[in-house]
Amino acid sequence: MISKVIEKEKEFSVVGKSLPRKDAIDKVTGTARYAADYYFPGMLYAKTLRTKYPRARIKKIDVSKALEYPGVVTVITAKDVPFLKNFGFFHRDIPPLVKEGDITNCIADGLAVVAAISEEIAEKALELIEVEYEPLPGIYDPLEALKDEAKEILGENRIYDHLHTEKGDVEKGFAEADLIIEREYRTQRIEHSYLEPEAVVVVPEGDRLIIYASAQYPNLVRGDIATALNMPQNKIHLIQATLGGGFGGKHEAVVLAGVRAALVALKTGRPVKMEYSREESMIESSKRHPYILKYKIGVKKDGTIVALDVKNIADGGAYCASSPWVLFRSHVHATGAYEIPNVRIDSVVVKTNNPNSSAMRGFGNPQVFFAIESLIDEVAEKLGMSPIEIRMKNALKQGSVIATGQVLNNHTVSIRDVLKKVVEMSDFERKWKEYKNQKNQRFKRGIGVAITFRGVSFGGEGFDFAGVYVTVFPDGTISMYGGVSENGQGLRTALSQIAAEEFGVPYDYVIYSNDDTFVTPYSLTTSASRGTFIGGWAVKNAVSQIKERMKKVASEILKVPEEKIIFRDGYVFSKDDPENKITFKELVQACYARQINMSAVGWHYVTGIDWDPHTGKGNAYITYAYSANVAEVEVDTQTGNVKVLKIYAVHDSGTIVNPVAAKSQVYGGISWSLGYALLEDFKVENGYPKAINFDKYRIARAMDMPEVEIEFIENPDPNGPFGAKSIGEPALEPGASAIANAISHAIGVRFYRLPITRDKVLEALKKKKEQGDN
Ligand code: MTE
Ligand code: MOS
Repeated sequence: MISKVIEKEKEFSVVGKSLPRKDAIDKVTGTARYAADYYFPGMLYAKTLRTKYPRARIKKIDVSKALEYPGVVTVITAKDVPFLKNFGFFHRDIPPLVKEGDITNCIADGLAVVAAISEEIAEKALELIEVEYEPLPGIYDPLEALKDEAKEILGENRIYDHLHTEKGDVEKGFAEADLIIEREYRTQRIEHSYLEPEAVVVVPEGDRLIIYASAQYPNLVRGDIATALNMPQNKIHLIQATLGGGFGGKHEAVVLAGVRAALVALKTGRPVKMEYSREESMIESSKRHPYILKYKIGVKKDGTIVALDVKNIADGGAYCASSPWVLFRSHVHATGAYEIPNVRIDSVVVKTNNPNSSAMRGFGNPQVFFAIESLIDEVAEKLGMSPIEIRMKNALKQGSVIATGQVLNNHTVSIRDVLKKVVEMSDFERKWKEYKNQKNQRFKRGIGVAITFRGVSFGGEGFDFAGVYVTVFPDGTISMYGGVSENGQGLRTALSQIAAEEFGVPYDYVIYSNDDTFVTPYSLTTSASRGTFIGGWAVKNAVSQIKERMKKVASEILKVPEEKIIFRDGYVFSKDDPENKITFKELVQACYARQINMSAVGWHYVTGIDWDPHTGKGNAYITYAYSANVAEVEVDTQTGNVKVLKIYAVHDSGTIVNPVAAKSQVYGGISWSLGYALLEDFKVENGYPKAINFDKYRIARAMDMPEVEIEFIENPDPNGPFGAKSIGEPALEPGASAIANAISHAIGVRFYRLPITRDKVLEALKKKKEQGDN
């Protein structure tokens, strides 16, 4: 029914086609310029000295020897720059440099910046800086951090955010339950692992700073740099260089690099490059929040869930950063894609002296989905149901009410169709029965499923807007500058398709440029998988403004009323007589001849959100995307190795703007899922990371990738531009849980902590054997 509303838009010319990426040629031929590829005459190279202890008072910093080293141009500490301020989106708690006399918060904290005529010299000089420390005790466990005594170390504002939501009557729900299961899950800290480490080049020009940066959110990074330098935002002109991946991570660390390089540029008047090594990137960039998830579920004998009680505790690390956004998302999605009548969710994110946790692809969802999807499987097992049966019984449906009280009725709630499809594709039920009967064999197969839902864009996080600036040139070609940007996900392509569709011109008429904060309308982040969604609306809005003006002229030329004018495939014609036409280009020229403004700023913001953090209730997101994965694995019971054989992925992301691009997001999401489920763990002991390069930090590699089969169920969403929703993050949300469930199915053991490494599998098998079970 809902899909019908926009059915007329189904026959697209450009949207829905697998057109080549706008940045494909630049990237494969090596002409794309990343931040570190910028060079300027007289450029200096800057490096940061970081603390040796996660928490210590900095008693003295002596830079004299470093200053004397040949080739060193300057060394800066906080003492030299009294105007320097802390920055941060929610709390201004991140110091670009820790001052003498102050206390560090984590191992990433910077103490001094060295600038030299080469990177090698700058690195050498770092070793010559003498720092006197007074090491102090820190808090590295979020449970310790929640205790009152922790205030002394972590300060009054150690709780970054706390949310509480209740629906129905949980105690009554548990009283009605036939089966109650209580479990504690833990998920690990992980690294973004983008190919390109952070880099900036700062060029002083008059009273302005031009900054080429590997910034994922150019506008926010520019704002934070301005805050830290105590400079007006219009004097910082930040240009997003080609980005080698962001995944939520290129924010705080890029600000730090930008501020430190800018300090040198301001002092010396010379261009300055700061390019992180992989090790620096891993030490300083934010990580995925590790979670402790306490789940208690009550179900009836027939599998109906009657109550769920959840407590989420997230380790926010040394600085607040985007923690409240991450927590909000896990809070709203803690029930998984199920309708549960009685729910209590309590979520808290707390400061520690661990490396900073902040945004990462999924924004708090992968954690809660691992908990609920594991738990649901366990319930099914106990009740003798199949994992599909229990999900079908409880999954969200049209008009369902989620924990926050939001009624899902403004879009097609398709999780049941998505689940059905993935079950069909994978022949789940048959394999599930077959693999149950494997006895005494070395290699055991398992199959597992997981379903997820995802609030599209931002909602209750606070605000959600973006702008795009569009110009049509006299030859009919179109340029766009937008505040949402290309991180590698294919946004320039998607937004060009949307503009071309709306203008009725071929795809190659349109270019969407990298973000340049001096010219783009100020916009929020390119995160929360909102680029195509919010950016697409902003593009449509700008294009329709220009089209309105063009229609008046077309009406005059074609002698038909404005409402009868159609723009399509490079022509403008009358609806009643398609032969009564001119080309788009001719019309543009006619408009310029009449001195008509052929530029517009398009703007969009989300309405209808009424989440109230005090009551924990309300409409949390404008709409939701739906996903399911089935994983097939083979466990080697002698080595503990888990091989993921195949992943089946089905997503309802509304209209798919570019099928190949959307699929590539899903492939990427699955490789992330493999890492989260089996391999990745950014271990930190007493504030010190155990591995800071890919020799020891294992991520999934090409050889680990399974066969993947992807299907999209396209219910155009009336809330999205041309019916489109999100795919970037939904792509990875069900994967790790499906893999974990498949492993349990294969060997009959449950894992409550990620990652499920070889050692853990072997240990579990050993234990099982000791108990006389195989
Ligand atoms: N894909 C690539 N290649 N590179 C990225 O940095 N970021 C992911 C996802 N896919 C990312 C990516 C994250 S964290 C998000 S939020 C979305 O893309 C952002 O893009 P969108 O808003 O345009 O969906
Ligand atoms: Mo993605 S974490 O929302 O940038």
